[in-house]
Amino acid sequence: MASQLKSLSWMLLIFLLLSNLKQHCNAVGNPQVPCLFVFGESLSDVGNNNDRLTLSKANYLPYGVDFPKGPTGRFSNGRNMIDVLAQNLGFDESISPFATARGEEILRGVNYASSSAGIRSETGKIYGDIISMDMQLENYQITLSQINKMLGNRNTSTTEYLSKCIYSVAIGANDYIDNYFSPVYTTSLIYNPQQYAVVLNQQLSQQLQTLYKSGARKFALIGLTALGNIPFERSACGSGSSGSACVDKINNAAQLFNYGLKSTVDQLNSNLTNATFIFINASAIESSPPIASKVADVSCCELLLNLVCIPFGKICSNRNDYKYWDGIHPTDAVHAVYGERAYKAQSPTDAYPFDVNRLAQV
Ligand SMILES: *[C@@H]1O[C@H](CO)[C@@H](O)[C@H](O)[C@H]1NC(C)=O
Ligand SMILES: *[C@@H]1O[C@H](CO)[C@@H](O)[C@H](O)[C@H]1NC(C)=O
Ligand SMILES: *[C@@H]1O[C@H](CO)[C@@H](O)[C@H](O)[C@H]1NC(C)=O
Ligand SMILES: *[C@@H]1O[C@H](CO)[C@@H](O)[C@H](O)[C@H]1NC(C)=O
Repeated sequence: MASQLKSLSWMLLIFLLLSNLKQHCNAVGNPQVPCLFVFGESLSDVGNNNDRLTLSKANYLPYGVDFPKGPTGRFSNGRNMIDVLAQNLGFDESISPFATARGEEILRGVNYASSSAGIRSETGKIYGDIISMDMQLENYQITLSQINKMLGNRNTSTTEYLSKCIYSVAIGANDYIDNYFSPVYTTSLIYNPQQYAVVLNQQLSQQLQTLYKSGARKFALIGLTALGNIPFERSACGSGSSGSACVDKINNAAQLFNYGLKSTVDQLNSNLTNATFIFINASAIESSPPIASKVADVSCCELLLNLVCIPFGKICSNRNDYKYWDGIHPTDAVHAVYGERAYKAQSPTDAYPFDVNRLAQV
């Protein structure tokens, strides 16, 4: 009897040690915030367009050639900036796309981003059935009701839960590339670049307030990079002095949007009680090392229509030395710098008024 008790207590001890170990392992992946919700376009997309009727997809090789799961719909050879941001926040796995996120995993947040999407709902529609910012907000409402159910329909507790989550919003690039500067659209006949930056920011500000009304409190707004410099636009602009004037015109329009976005951050911080908005100056991060010193005149993969990688086409071998993976999107190495510096600013111009690491602690 005594020896039986003794072995029983040994078993109990081992069981306790093992379960403690398991808890400890979970604690390693314990993120700084309970959840990360992601809105945006291709720089954040993790596969939401895969099963939709659109040309705007990246779920084929060579996309994902350096990603453990292979091609997933990420517009990169490896991770995208949101994967890296999530890693830095302590998530042990990337945030799942709305298209496939199910069950308890949605409590960690959901990624709604859709390549070619814009603030304006007509943006990017020439590429098919993509998910505009307004539709992403509708999808968020679906998630919200699921979370409400999971948290036991205790509305106040959902509100409290969501107030700790980070909402990343990186959108607007396609409102230029696949709208204003695309000959198919008429916005450039209606607005000058300054007016267009204002209407875009007004619409985005409304969309952010919709998120605020459904519980969001911590927002990271990611600004635009130098859109005129992407291989797609440089090739569309042509060579010579008129080519470089065309590139400058696009870059200047994107900068106007960025100044508006920064001012939106100031306004919403003072207008919305308990909310914190930050602006990530992606253009500052882009124009400093290490991104600024990478090969930027050609993309790493062989291009189709100067836009996306040719399926199973050739790729460069030294991918970390390249800025552009395809005609529009950065390589894993560059995505990583955006994600890391959005999380932890390395220069005072990277983040305003502070970085995501501090946003998490607010
Ligand atoms: C909480 O309930 C109110 C009223 O029923 C509703 O308007 C609000 O959207 C809910 N908030 C969340 C975060 O579900
Ligand atoms: C913030 O509030 C001011 C004063 O009511 C208003 O003029 C401004 O448009 C608001 N800003 C935003 C971005 O909603
Ligand atoms: C702001 O936060 C305080 C303290 O948590 C809370 O009591 C109040 O209801 C919040 N107000 C809004 C509008 O979120
Ligand atoms: C972003 O940072 C750059 C410095 O690299 C600065 O010139 C620019 O004004 C900043 N943009 C905004 C919107 O603050």
